[in-house]
Amino acid sequence: MKSKILALLRERRDYVSGQELCEHFGVSRTAVWKAVGQLKKEGYEIEAVKNRGYLLTEREDVFGRHELESRMATRWAGHPVYFYESVSSTNQQAKQLAESGCGQGTLVAADMQTAGRGRRGKAWSSPAGTNVYFTLILKPEYDPDCVSMVTLVMALAVAEGIRATCGVEAGIKWPNDIVADGKKLCGMLTEMSVERDYIHHVVVGAGINVRRQEFAPEIADRAVSLEQLCGQRVSRAMLIANVMKAFEKFYDCFEREHSLAGLLEQYNRLLVSRDGEVCVLDPKGEYRGISRGVNARGELLVELADGRVTEVYAGEVSVRGVYGYV
Ligand code: BTN
Repeated sequence: MKSKILALLRERRDYVSGQELCEHFGVSRTAVWKAVGQLKKEGYEIEAVKNRGYLLTEREDVFGRHELESRMATRWAGHPVYFYESVSSTNQQAKQLAESGCGQGTLVAADMQTAGRGRRGKAWSSPAGTNVYFTLILKPEYDPDCVSMVTLVMALAVAEGIRATCGVEAGIKWPNDIVADGKKLCGMLTEMSVERDYIHHVVVGAGINVRRQEFAPEIADRAVSLEQLCGQRVSRAMLIANVMKAFEKFYDCFEREHSLAGLLEQYNRLLVSRDGEVCVLDPKGEYRGISRGVNARGELLVELADGRVTEVYAGEVSVRGVYGYV
């Protein structure tokens, strides 16, 4: 009920009488009064004026379960929400929740992570009050081979969610990073639990740099945050809700066809280094070529010097620009 009260007060932008809230939710005045009191404790400024009712004044970026729920405008992606002030890793937590029966669409978000994980076993720095860390649980019925495409779907959703929230035009650095201004804004980590050809669950996690911050020296020259780019305060809950909205739209399209065919044009438009020279870091040996965009299976097409085009599978390699990170 608290999330619904929040959503109603926000939508109304005016006083809402206690009587109306009671009737709307079918509860007593005391129940409404208690819920409002708890929301105030969570950091919301709610004015209560006799004979007028309650008024929400939004000044602070409150980040928590009720804020996320009240912003969520989706059918399934982002329902239910599990929010933690601190968690080891949202991916880790999501796996445990999936194993204990949580279904597709469950969102796990945290204010900080004590053991945030990046790709290739690296740590993902996850301080409090600064960034967005979330993981979405999926219970797909398709083949495990299709799972690498889920990261590309999330990449599209993150880029779209960022644009909708603060207007930053972010690009995709295939397959796992979102970039702007030549620097990394977001990293993604998709993991799955599979037995023979049966997928128990997939968890897709993303860490988005939101607030201005000191990045660790080893990444300082290639990391950037949204607030550095747009110069204004960004609501982390709004950002996650916008990413969920975009993800639901793109994933429904992907799931119908088990292919990226319907999303290709949009994806390739956002792909950085398209038609530029890239360096493919293949464990069997590095090579260079021209990036020609991704195909419907999410593989990067790289044109070699002799004109042949190779299809690079996301799981095996990473790609960087010839002159640096992008
Ligand atoms: C990378 O670029 O190396 C991927 C980083 C992925 C970080 C996110 S933050 C939320 C989720 N939980 C984790 O432990 N990792 C992912």
